[in-house]
Amino acid sequence: MIHSIPNASIVIFGATGDLAHRKLFPALYQLYQKGLMKENFSVVGVSRKDFSHDKFQQDVAEAISEHTPGTDNEKVKTFASHFYYLKMDVTSESSYHELEELLNVLDRDYHTNGNRLYYLAMAPRFFGTIPTFLKSEGITNTDGWQRIVIEKPFGHDLPSATKLNEEIQQSFGENDIYRIDHYLGKEMVQNIQVIRFGNAIFESIWNNKYIDSVQITSSETLGVEDRAAYYEKSGALLDMVQNHMLQMVMMIAMEPPGELKPEHIRDEKVKVLRSLRFFNEEEVRKNVIRAQYSAGSLKGEDVPSYLQEDNVDPQSETETFVAAKLFIDNFRWTGVPFYIRTGKRMAVKSTEIVIQFKQGPMALYHAKTEKYQPNLLRIHVQPDEGVSLTLNAKPKGDTSDLLPIDMTYNNKSTTDMNSPEAYEKLLHDCLLGNSTYFTRWDEVALSWEFIDRITSAWQNGTGAPITFYPSGSMGPAESDNLLNTDGLSWWEPTKVREDV
Ligand code: BG6
Repeated sequence: MIHSIPNASIVIFGATGDLAHRKLFPALYQLYQKGLMKENFSVVGVSRKDFSHDKFQQDVAEAISEHTPGTDNEKVKTFASHFYYLKMDVTSESSYHELEELLNVLDRDYHTNGNRLYYLAMAPRFFGTIPTFLKSEGITNTDGWQRIVIEKPFGHDLPSATKLNEEIQQSFGENDIYRIDHYLGKEMVQNIQVIRFGNAIFESIWNNKYIDSVQITSSETLGVEDRAAYYEKSGALLDMVQNHMLQMVMMIAMEPPGELKPEHIRDEKVKVLRSLRFFNEEEVRKNVIRAQYSAGSLKGEDVPSYLQEDNVDPQSETETFVAAKLFIDNFRWTGVPFYIRTGKRMAVKSTEIVIQFKQGPMALYHAKTEKYQPNLLRIHVQPDEGVSLTLNAKPKGDTSDLLPIDMTYNNKSTTDMNSPEAYEKLLHDCLLGNSTYFTRWDEVALSWEFIDRITSAWQNGTGAPITFYPSGSMGPAESDNLLNTDGLSWWEPTKVREDV
């Protein structure tokens, strides 16, 4: 259900950065122009640059026009007039006094009742410092609610994430900490729950008796762009698997919640991680593939290798691709492999989940023709949004042949693939205090525990060595072999929309 957002001030730390421009300003604007955010709100943009309020408002308006085509300029201007700018050194106590003064004025002018949302869209090294000062300098000491949104990465392993969490929890309770994973804001990721629990026909066969395997692919065509400084340290494992890929696994594998309440849903997701098999070194070697893109061609253009990208160490062993075979050792999933793969500079930009069903008890058809396909339920997360079910039917006419047919629902996405939509939903939720689609600390801790075993096997040389794949391909041969040895292959992503 869509609710209007209560009066509040939003403080964006990192307001001159890319995320604020590409995602946050357009997302807030969408909430405003849909009438979900009324006139009583203010946004304080914080960064180290020298800006005036006017210049900042102009910047916000430009970002919105650039990323939200067809906007109404007057409306954007009115919206941007709610924005204020503060130059701050977030490591200096005195900066926070100015922030407090400004927020107090805005509380009065916009009747925000002391409700404050702090959004940390800046370098992770400040994630611990800012909440500490917000509390020690009394900024969180109002009659309203105080919530903090933390971007990824939340630490870089379990010890660092634990330390960060302890720091933040000195100032904010778990219920007021919103750890963002933008995949949880995607329309079709949220839809998994409805498809599964809203359709008895699926839920009754959603188990190891009827499901053969699950595949989750999230491929990108972009390379590392200008983010080498960050990416060299994270690689695909920390950048995509620890968060987005595991979140999708959880949504597919979780048990039905008792109620559609945040804690019920998050409890069930955590249980999936508790049943996820945590690999030893030998299992990492067998089940986790890492690779890096070499030069290749994409959409007819030659593209360089990862090692040739700006600011990448020419000897770098950072992985830009990961494929893995995961096991969930519980009653529902024992014996059903979950294959995941994600990478940069792949042939297509696509995120898709494929549930492959087992064949029927009698081989009435499938032994007789190669055209037989197992039943597949595909959840198209992006660029198209929808769901399709592959069935076998008889082609028209006098034939006993088989024809795989697709029943497809295409929830035509109205925006482009890097749309601010996920952020719009997530901002809406946290302004309303709904934490369903944010990651709880126990989820984060368990996912790091799982990932740390892979990182350490790679670091001590017991994991599989890095291999290479040409840019514009769907990954290295080793990733195909992961499935081939089980008699399976990756399902190629379907492409419903032609414009991406
Ligand atoms: C981000 C990663 O979290 O997700 C990026 O840091 C990646 O490296 C991006 O490109 C992918 O998001 P989306 O929504 O485009 O699939």
